[in-house]
Amino acid sequence: MALLNVNIDHVATIRQARKTDEPDPAWAASICELAGANGITVHLRQDRRHISDRDVEVLKQTVASKFNLEMSIAEPIVKIAERIRPDQVTLVPEKRAELTTEGGLDCVKNKKRIAAIVKRMHKKGILVSTFITPNEEHILASAETGCDAVELHTGMYANAKTDRAIEKTLNALRDGRDIALTSGLIVHAGHGLTYRNIAPVAKIEGLCEFNIGHSIVSRAVLVGMKQATQEMIKLING
Ligand code: PXP
Repeated sequence: MALLNVNIDHVATIRQARKTDEPDPAWAASICELAGANGITVHLRQDRRHISDRDVEVLKQTVASKFNLEMSIAEPIVKIAERIRPDQVTLVPEKRAELTTEGGLDCVKNKKRIAAIVKRMHKKGILVSTFITPNEEHILASAETGCDAVELHTGMYANAKTDRAIEKTLNALRDGRDIALTSGLIVHAGHGLTYRNIAPVAKIEGLCEFNIGHSIVSRAVLVGMKQATQEMIKLING
């Protein structure tokens, strides 16, 4: 059975629209957990545009399920992860001007740096996943860093418009899964997944964890976080 981690960054985005103290992502995290989520994911960006240092501290203390911290490989953020000790970190590329994470982490170019981070995280008992495009070179480079898992970037699938393009991106995810599993990695997936497009990806065996944010928080604004989380879990499990 594949598991759902709800990315609650955009609960913090609503709060930051007024720079006030509501809604608190910790409230949302509790409801997601009560609704059956496997874990809670947040991205502590270097510009702190949504999730704050305080959020990460509070969530570390209050999340009873899996706490997955998405983060760049920049040293100040790595130090925060060492101090906070989430259950898992997912290493992502980060550009200042982007609306959301664009593309995957370049594990070939950054292999040495990632390997050093993996060692430091493992010393603190933290699992490491790398967010990458389903590309053989990057998956193999990831495996060589000693990380535990890869999160395959589903953005190309989410953006595909024609049936042919969709099938091509699904095949790329299946191939990526095969390479990752053969390399001894756990396989996660995420980015751009919605209630409308999750079914074909959820059917890919071997993808054991999905990180989904924008679509769930968008639905939660209208139907509530509990219902939004439960509906996505139902779709993931067919
Ligand atoms: N996985 C990773 C690594 C991400 O960076 C993001 C966006 O923060 C997500 C999953 C969730 O993407 P979305 O908000 O499109 O569901």
